[in-house]
Amino acid sequence: MTYRTHLSIRVGNYRMTAQQITLEAMMPEHLDGAVELSRQAKWPHRREDWELVQSISQGVVALVEERVVGTAMMTPYGDDAATINMVIVEAAMRGQGLGRRVMDVALDKAGERTCYLVATQEGLHLYESLGFIATGEIVQHQGEALPVAAPAQVCWAESGDYKCLAALDLVAYGHERSALMRFLRESARFAVVREENLVQAFAAIRAFGRGLVIGPVVARNDIEAKTLIDFLLAHHPGMFVRVDTDKSLKLAEWLTSRGLTHAGGGITMRRVADGRKDKGAAPRRTYALVSQALG
Ligand SMILES: CC(C)(COP(=O)(O)OP(=O)(O)OC[C@H]1O[C@@H](n2cnc3c(N)ncnc32)[C@H](O)[C@@H]1OP(=O)(O)O)[C@@H](O)C(=O)NCCC(=O)NCCS
Repeated sequence: MTYRTHLSIRVGNYRMTAQQITLEAMMPEHLDGAVELSRQAKWPHRREDWELVQSISQGVVALVEERVVGTAMMTPYGDDAATINMVIVEAAMRGQGLGRRVMDVALDKAGERTCYLVATQEGLHLYESLGFIATGEIVQHQGEALPVAAPAQVCWAESGDYKCLAALDLVAYGHERSALMRFLRESARFAVVREENLVQAFAAIRAFGRGLVIGPVVARNDIEAKTLIDFLLAHHPGMFVRVDTDKSLKLAEWLTSRGLTHAGGGITMRRVADGRKDKGAAPRRTYALVSQALG
């Protein structure tokens, strides 16, 4: 998968032409370069955050010699859905078709799956031109958690709860993502609401970026979602916590009251493969995303 292109790129005071760009499947040895690329784009991802995405995804890297200058990942959720994520092109090489190239590879890997993503303003035009349509908005809230009391009706999950958590996630997210849930079982801590010995709702917290991220949050209503989040905040006062939530769920103002202020967000988009019927979005009841990359 190699192509030669005649990009005209400014490097210092020189303009280089005829750069050879190689597209390769993303492998663990590309992780350091990918981390550096996302750092340059001012994304907070640590190596561990890339490792999570890579471990459950198929990715592509664009290389100039050994340097990673572009990335895109396709994370399959069963045979019918996928998220497209970590789409980044080195700043000096933008606007010359490389973003479209890596997206083409990622969409090719997705096959006939319905694809979801959270777009930045910069990526919006590219995604629209590839058949993605806007479906909503994600708001990112973050900050140092204010001290709150831990609600009595929430407790920590036990090891036997895991199957139930995965089943609740499936119902709430609408697509099977057992590989992701297996990873979270190892890397996250889960708070649960239990009734008659059965888990009815849960929220996960794990290390991410500058601090901690809360998500997914699967609850029956917004009061329950807030109760779960309060429990997690109560156990991490003063720590830097991030929550990404769908704007239509109206958690934003409440999150601000907990010390987590608005810090950007993105446009949710969906693309149905050519020749497939658009069945509409799967029903979602997740109050917070695992991450913008993974939904
Ligand atoms: C989004 C991004 C990957 C695009 O990469 P790129 O190599 O510049 O993309 P391309 O050159 O293939 O351009 C694709 C299309 O988007 C358009 N485009 C590129 N940058 C744009 C910008 N900043 N604003 C509006 N349109 C833009 C191009 O004109 C092109 O459209 P056209 O083919 O109709 O002319 C790149 O800007 C980037 O890495 N941004 C920072 C990280 C980011 O926001 N990633 C998206 C995450 S969802």
